[in-house]
Amino acid sequence: MTQWWRDAVVYQIYPRSFADGNADGTGDFTGALARLPYLAELGVDAVWFSPFYPSPLADGGYDVADYCDVDPRFGTLADFDAFVAAAAGHGIRVIVDVVPNHCSSAHPAFQAALAAGPGSPERDLFIFRDAPNNWQSIFGGPAWTQTPDGQWYLHLFDSSQPDWNWANPAVPAMFEKVLRFWLDRGVAGLRVDVAHGLFKDPQLPDVPDPAPSDRPSPWFHRPELVAHYATWRAILDSYPADVFPGRRTAVGEFWGDEITHLEPYFIPGGMPQAFNFFLFQTAWNAAALRQTITASLALAEGSDVVAPWVISNHDVMRPVSRYGAPAPARSDAEVDVALGTRRARAAALLLLALPGSAYVYQGEELGLPEFLDIPAADRDDPVYRRTGGARLGRDGCRVPMPWSGTAAPYGFGEGGATWLPQPDGWAALTVEAQRADPGSTLALYRAAIAGRPSGEFRWLDGYDLAFTRGDDFACLVNLGTEPAELPAYESVLLASGGLPGGALPPDTAVWLRLR
Ligand code: NOJ
Repeated sequence: MTQWWRDAVVYQIYPRSFADGNADGTGDFTGALARLPYLAELGVDAVWFSPFYPSPLADGGYDVADYCDVDPRFGTLADFDAFVAAAAGHGIRVIVDVVPNHCSSAHPAFQAALAAGPGSPERDLFIFRDAPNNWQSIFGGPAWTQTPDGQWYLHLFDSSQPDWNWANPAVPAMFEKVLRFWLDRGVAGLRVDVAHGLFKDPQLPDVPDPAPSDRPSPWFHRPELVAHYATWRAILDSYPADVFPGRRTAVGEFWGDEITHLEPYFIPGGMPQAFNFFLFQTAWNAAALRQTITASLALAEGSDVVAPWVISNHDVMRPVSRYGAPAPARSDAEVDVALGTRRARAAALLLLALPGSAYVYQGEELGLPEFLDIPAADRDDPVYRRTGGARLGRDGCRVPMPWSGTAAPYGFGEGGATWLPQPDGWAALTVEAQRADPGSTLALYRAAIAGRPSGEFRWLDGYDLAFTRGDDFACLVNLGTEPAELPAYESVLLASGGLPGGALPPDTAVWLRLR
């Protein structure tokens, strides 16, 4: 049966910031529905919605209070259904986000656990102890918070995000229902949040180095996960093809400090996809990228699990700002936007020429930079708060999309103030402006998505970072400081910048039809 996700282009929608249909400054399904033609024009195969469930939005919705409903700020279940149906009309599938590691402290089960007291079955759905260990929250600060009765509960993220106890069979049973709820509504797939979390070492041991990391630990990459995801795969595979042909899928958010940390998930019958974040964890350096790509391709060999490529999402600095500064920038002035844009455009051609599926995060196709100068009072990310500003957090990549016009809210909605401020100076970056410009980053993404190559991947010798797909396609990226000669070719299919003198300038990529 078709595994459509093996080479799909999936567009990530961060619902709060995509499009506002009811003039309240926050995105919603009505807004997203109206922008479906844009997504169809871009040519994506599916959209993945970050959480839109009822939530206090303490972590942008990754603090779920009800897994089977829509937060009124985003619309209703009927609005969701309408989006799924309309998307299908455009040939676009829908993927929803499942957040199984933790919920919101506002979730009724956690409220019941607090009320029921120590030793109760309600508390056993979470991880309560009489004393904390030395684990640290990924968002900064301790991973434990004390309740008024003296017990402590574990939260790998914010204190408003208590971790479920996956050793209690009621938890997997509950999540099976959640999966089925969305699969029954016709979604084509699930994105699984913190997929390398969930199970914890039952001893909850202190660790020698509690600094957050993504290596195997008493809280990440536990051995129970592999068998667990095989049960989810069986559920996915038990679903009949719906509107679309092919099976349903799931993509796990598996972070690792090294590629080898992901190896256990690449087994026959595992979760169908595991994100490959190593492309954006790798510096703008040819040798390093080449090594990352080789290791990533080797990872999936021999399993039926694939590792989609990603250069941005709602958790990391936008590529333009990442590639445009020598070290992680803390203010807009530190970013060389022209350099960052050149590199981000080259990275886009790399992303979309590699074999397999690619995820594109809203605004990436517009070449938006990170908005680093968001005033402190407007910042929303718990990472900023929990680290006292030492880490700026992720607000800068979550700024509402600029659709049209020359000033905020740039056509995001009819309302005035957006939930996060937009910067001045985005007039040339709006969808409207870029649509009219054949040299825009939007035009580049559209052409690249339409013209993605297929065929066997082979490194092209003699270049720092170049490969062929099939017999006559080549992608070359110049990460050096001197222009590079091009091989003999029949035509230039796409280029991320000009090719003066017929050579490939630094920080530029090209797709060629070879002779
Ligand atoms: C990963 C999500 O992508 C991120 O946005 C969130 O804060 C954490 N998981 C916790 O759910």
